[in-house]
Amino acid sequence: MITNFVFLSLLSYACVVLNAAFGPRTFSIDYSHDCFLKDGMPFQYISGSVHYFRIPRVYWKDRLLKMYMSGLNAVQVYVPWNFHETEQGVYNFAGDRDLEHFLYLANETGLFVILRPGPYICAEWEMGGLPAWLLQKPSIMVRTADPDYLQAVNDWLAVLLPKVKPWLYSNGGNILSVQVENEYGSYFACDYNYMRHLRALFRYFLGDDTVLFTTDGNTNREMTCGTLQGLYATIDFGTDTNASVAFDRQRRFEPRGPLVNSEFYTGWLDHWGEKHAHVDTEKVSSMLGEMLSMGANVNMYMFEGGTNFGYWNGADCDTRYRSVVTSYDYNAPLSEAGDPTDKLLAIREVIKKFRDVPLGPMPPAMPKFAYGFVTMKKVSPTNLLYLSCFQYYGYMLYRTKLPRMVPDPTPLISPLNGIHDRAYISINGVYQGFLERDTQLVMNVTGQEGDQMDILVENMGRVNFGSKINDFKARLNYSHLQILYTQASGLVSNLILGRDVLTDWQIYSLDIDGTIASGWPHSEVAQHHPGTISKSSDGPTFYMGTLEARGFAWDTFLKLKGWTKGQVWINGVNLGRYWPQRGPQQTLYVPGPLLSSSQPNNITVLELEGAPVDTRILFLDRPQLDSITKRS
Ligand SMILES: *[C@@H]1O[C@H](CO)[C@@H](O)[C@H](O)[C@H]1NC(C)=O
Ligand SMILES: *[C@@H]1O[C@H](CO)[C@@H](O)[C@H](O)[C@H]1NC(C)=O
Ligand SMILES: *[C@@H]1O[C@H](CO)[C@@H](O)[C@H](O)[C@H]1NC(C)=O
Ligand SMILES: *[C@@H]1O[C@H](CO)[C@@H](O)[C@H](O)[C@H]1NC(C)=O
Ligand SMILES: *[C@@H]1O[C@H](CO)[C@@H](O)[C@H](O)[C@H]1NC(C)=O
Repeated sequence: MITNFVFLSLLSYACVVLNAAFGPRTFSIDYSHDCFLKDGMPFQYISGSVHYFRIPRVYWKDRLLKMYMSGLNAVQVYVPWNFHETEQGVYNFAGDRDLEHFLYLANETGLFVILRPGPYICAEWEMGGLPAWLLQKPSIMVRTADPDYLQAVNDWLAVLLPKVKPWLYSNGGNILSVQVENEYGSYFACDYNYMRHLRALFRYFLGDDTVLFTTDGNTNREMTCGTLQGLYATIDFGTDTNASVAFDRQRRFEPRGPLVNSEFYTGWLDHWGEKHAHVDTEKVSSMLGEMLSMGANVNMYMFEGGTNFGYWNGADCDTRYRSVVTSYDYNAPLSEAGDPTDKLLAIREVIKKFRDVPLGPMPPAMPKFAYGFVTMKKVSPTNLLYLSCFQYYGYMLYRTKLPRMVPDPTPLISPLNGIHDRAYISINGVYQGFLERDTQLVMNVTGQEGDQMDILVENMGRVNFGSKINDFKARLNYSHLQILYTQASGLVSNLILGRDVLTDWQIYSLDIDGTIASGWPHSEVAQHHPGTISKSSDGPTFYMGTLEARGFAWDTFLKLKGWTKGQVWINGVNLGRYWPQRGPQQTLYVPGPLLSSSQPNNITVLELEGAPVDTRILFLDRPQLDSITKRS
């Protein structure tokens, strides 16, 4: 009976090859029946994007299980090059970077994988996943056939793709298909030699039979520059697009073969200072149903967004530089903290109409706890920071002396908009104010000749999309600078005070994360230093406190009400940036596994502009991601 039923239902399918059903493991494109074939049988994927690099490793299985229970049969996964090749030639695939463990868990959960190894991924991730060390060659043309760029790509893919190969479906793993580059047609270069080079590399490492594909936006220009013979052309679009019009466009580039929307947008990202994104559940459900009934393969971007921990957020730079917030909640079906939402339940109802959804309950949300207030104490400025030889992310200190008396308020100007991305300025330890890329290029200072001017420059994340992804944070002019530690935050052009170009900079690469990871300031071990950043409570200042988790370490959300802008660490782990003054994000997600239930949890805050009089911070049991406070 069962066999007959399967047989009959297959006959009703347009795209059937019966005699290959018992052959070896294969995944391919059936151009005559416009579908994918898995083991010779028609196959449609209903997939969701999830980024292992935005979720703590201990939660990977939970998130994958929730995706499986939602009725998905696949997950789509980016691989961020800069997260794995942290310095040129230094590779890290351990812990939260253990891609193969993630693939293993997905397979164990019953999910296929659509892998997107870049080398560029966009993803609202720092520099679109490209390593900042590429910028050590100032003239580098990333995402083109520039020989230096290609050499770096060759070296990286020679490490990554051999790890991926055993996980291909045909080799006994769960990877069905592999994307080459990412939305390349959106990039100005349109360099077919680059894409041909990538095609050859992917073929060399993954073999001739692997389904390789490209994904591009829904315009002819993007599809023209992003697609290449031998790489299956797919398209991406959200609820504001007419699906049949978009798939017609895919058809112009792939007259036959499966319809694929590689990024169907369930939500959208947030920038600091802008409204919290919201995509309507009703629209997502109805369009998903429409695409699935057309027989299309759909990947929902994102199914769970997660968090831009540390310094990993990207930025856009179209009309002006706008950095992406710490939360990558994305208004997705699973929240930033991995909780099922109404959107998820609605999507599951749609999927039920097309395939059997696994029986059994949806795993519940992880427990959350409102731990309440923690009082933060200012860290005495005699506790100082380690220095490092170089850095790519975070904060750098530029120090010089005022070249002459400036008794009256005198403009300090960044004439070429060269602050990347925000600079906090103190004179003799007294905070004066900030300059900001594209938005605040002038401020007044006063002082005496020879006064020490300290400029702490924050890298707020490299541009991840568009023509400006060569986002230099420090391009140093040797004739002006005494110490050369490149690449982190920085000044990419001169600063002018009145009519003087400031020169004779000392540049300190501050290893704040290393210092905190080694126990400071809670261990109270002062180390060698560049001096204090600020003496007053205004301007860059560290605060410390401890949270007692009282016997259980649950997920929680940290709110810094009245604080201005800065960075938070818990037990040495960098939770990311906070900026309640700009919003919309008001709380930072604190995964329970970061907390200790037995000993006090060490909290360190670097407040950049000014803490409130009441220096308490608050741990809540729910996130608050959508509040814009008036800009000051
Ligand atoms: C994937 O999962 C299946 C089913 O649990 C198992 O038989 C297979 O060995 C797994 N493959 C890998 C590579 O782990
Ligand atoms: C989408 O476009 C097609 C063809 O132009 C049109 O027939 C259809 O009504 C449109 N659908 C929606 C929902 O607007
Ligand atoms: C700087 O000071 C001058 C003189 O007091 C004043 O006219 C000007 O508005 C100030 N500029 C800024 C950016 O505060
Ligand atoms: C470096 O500064 C010197 C002195 O102002 C200037 O002549 C030169 O053009 C600068 N070089 C670059 C690469 O900006
Ligand atoms: C907090 O810091 C102290 C001093 O460095 C250290 O002994 C303790 O283990 C830290 N607590 C946690 C939970 O890491």
